[in-house]
Amino acid sequence: MLKGTAALDWGMQNRLAQVFRPATSRTVMLAIDHGYFQGPTTGLERVEESIVPLLPYADALMTTRGMVRSTIPPASRTPIVLRASGGPSILKELSDERLALSVEDAARLNAAAVAVQVFIGGEHETQSVRNMTRLVDEGQRYGIPVLAVTAVGRDLTRDARYLRLATRICAELGAHVVKTYYCAEDFDTVTAACPVPVVMAGGKKLPEMEALTMAYRAVEAGAAGVDMGRNIFQSDHPAEMIRAVAGIVHESMKPEEAYDLLSRSAAP
Ligand code: R5P
Repeated sequence: MLKGTAALDWGMQNRLAQVFRPATSRTVMLAIDHGYFQGPTTGLERVEESIVPLLPYADALMTTRGMVRSTIPPASRTPIVLRASGGPSILKELSDERLALSVEDAARLNAAAVAVQVFIGGEHETQSVRNMTRLVDEGQRYGIPVLAVTAVGRDLTRDARYLRLATRICAELGAHVVKTYYCAEDFDTVTAACPVPVVMAGGKKLPEMEALTMAYRAVEAGAAGVDMGRNIFQSDHPAEMIRAVAGIVHESMKPEEAYDLLSRSAAP
């Protein structure tokens, strides 16, 4: 049973069951939505070449409607988590987002969930919270769950105190799932204080062993899986890396075992 979702309507629970494997109640989501504010990120220049071959290994793909319609094969069986907010580029104030997708269009694209950035403590905090609550209202109408992404601005510390605040606000105001960064100390208090599933954000590219260790510690501390981008698609061995992450998330592998799996399967 996925935390905090028992009272949701059938359609909402069914969509969540597409994203979170029912056998483990966890997910390995592949995030490739970076282009919505930073253009062709390293590793995402040619999504048809770098990402489409990875789809069978991902429990869900977090992406934009532009990328779905232009590049993701409609026959793909990987559920889509659609980016629903946007506006400013990396050249501007990132918290100044608006909703950039209607839930009606998300339904048309058969999205399993929609995702919105929430900037707690950011310059446009209230506006970003309002984006989320409007999306939740629309999502409730269509049975489409909302993933709130807690965005950390340059000046904010990613410690448990901040992450508890940000994730709890998102859940209290209706998010069905919250994505947040990992912190080395007391991450279990972040997941415990959030009444809905928390998925760990990947962040900048780390050496594979470090990224696997972070994923392991996050799920050990109560995360319902990961939503990773650069640590997968910027790896020299992305298919092997996502399979190693899945080993940790779904098969309770230790980081060393998962790294060993990666090294053996990546060997020429
Ligand atoms: C922004 O915050 C977005 O959701 C990102 O584009 C994406 O999810 C980041 O993924 P990662 O940090 O794992 O590359």
